[in-house]
Amino acid sequence: MRAVRIHQFGGPEVLRVEEVAEPTPGPGEVLIRTIATSINPVDDKTRTGAIGDATPPLPLTLGWDLAGVIVDGGTSEFRPGDRVIAMSHQLATTRGTWADLVVLAADVLAPAPTTVSLTEAATLPLPGLTAVQTLDWLAVAAGDRLLIAGAAGAVGGLAVQLARTRGAQVHALVSREAQLPVVKEFGAEFATTDPADLADGGYDAVFDTFGAFVTDAVVDGGRYASIASQAGPVPDLSARGVRTTINQVVEDGAGLRELSGLVDSGALVLRVAESFPVREVRAAHERFAVGGGNGKITLTF
Ligand SMILES: NC(=O)c1ccc[n+]([C@@H]2O[C@H](COP(=O)([O-])OP(=O)(O)OC[C@H]3O[C@@H](n4cnc5c(N)ncnc54)[C@H](OP(=O)(O)O)[C@@H]3O)[C@@H](O)[C@H]2O)c1
Repeated sequence: MRAVRIHQFGGPEVLRVEEVAEPTPGPGEVLIRTIATSINPVDDKTRTGAIGDATPPLPLTLGWDLAGVIVDGGTSEFRPGDRVIAMSHQLATTRGTWADLVVLAADVLAPAPTTVSLTEAATLPLPGLTAVQTLDWLAVAAGDRLLIAGAAGAVGGLAVQLARTRGAQVHALVSREAQLPVVKEFGAEFATTDPADLADGGYDAVFDTFGAFVTDAVVDGGRYASIASQAGPVPDLSARGVRTTINQVVEDGAGLRELSGLVDSGALVLRVAESFPVREVRAAHERFAVGGGNGKITLTF
C-alpha cells in the first residue's frame, strides 16, 4: 500500500509516496481504508522539522486527519463498509493517516457525517476537536462575549460556528478584508482586521488561533486560550485574575461523534479550498504554503 513518508526534514520535495507493508489491527483496533485526509499546519511543521524534539524518529508517515471506510472493525461497533472519521495524534503515536490503510484504536473513530462527502469530512477531525476542546476549556456558554483571533482559519471558522451553537456572542479578528463576510456568515456579529478595533476588557473569553496575544481585550477575571504553541506562552495575566493556557488537542471519538452530528444538522459548514490526489502531495503542500484560500487543502486516495 501507499504511504506519504519523510526520511529527512525539508521542503515539499522530501515528501515521498512509498510502498510500505499493510498494518494489522490488534485488540481494540480497527483497519480503515483512507478515502481522504487534509493538510494541517502541524503536518507542514513536522515536514520542515519545526516541531523539534517532539518529532518521533524518522522515517515517519505524516497525517492527523482521516475520512475513510472500515475494512475490519474487530470487536468494535464498526462494520466493514461503514464511513468513519478519525483524528490520529500522529506525533504521539507515529500512526500517520496519509496511507491507503490505517490502523487506529476504535475509540478515536466516529461515524462520518452523512450529508457531506468524505473529502469534506476529512477537514473536520483535527480542527473540529481543537475548536471544541478549546471552547470547553474557555467554558464558553450562552451570553458570553467571545473573541476569536484567526476566525477565518480552519480551527477559527469551526470555533465561530460552534460558539454560536452555545449561544455566545462572537467577535472575529481576521487577517484580510476578504475574510470579513466569511466569518459573518458563520455567525460572528462583528469582524475586523484591526486589533485596535477591539474594546479593552470587552470579552469574557479570547480564543487565539495564531498568537495574536490581544490580552487587553479580555476582561479582568476572564479566560484566554491560545492554540499557537509555536508563538510561545500566553503572557502571565494572573495579576488581573485572567486564566490562560496553550491548549493541546487530544484524540476523542465521542467528541468527533458530536461534531459529525452538528454537520448533519446543518450547524457546522465544512470548507474545502482545493483537493489533490495523493500522488500530487508535493503540489498540495506548495499550495498549502501559499495560503489565501477559503477552506482546507485535502488529499484523496
Ligand atoms: N495546540 C493545538 O492542539 C493545535 C491544534 C490545531 C492547530 N494548532 C495550531 O493553531 C494554528 C491555527 O491552525 P489552523 O489549522 O486554524 O490554521 P489556519 O487555517 O492557517 O488558520 C490560521 C488563521 O489565522 C490567520 N492569521 C494569521 N496571522 C494573522 C494575523 N496577524 N492577523 C489576523 N489573522 C491572522 C490566518 O489568516 P491567513 O489565511 O490570511 O493566513 C488564518 O485564517 C496553527 O499554528 C496550528 O499549528 C494547534
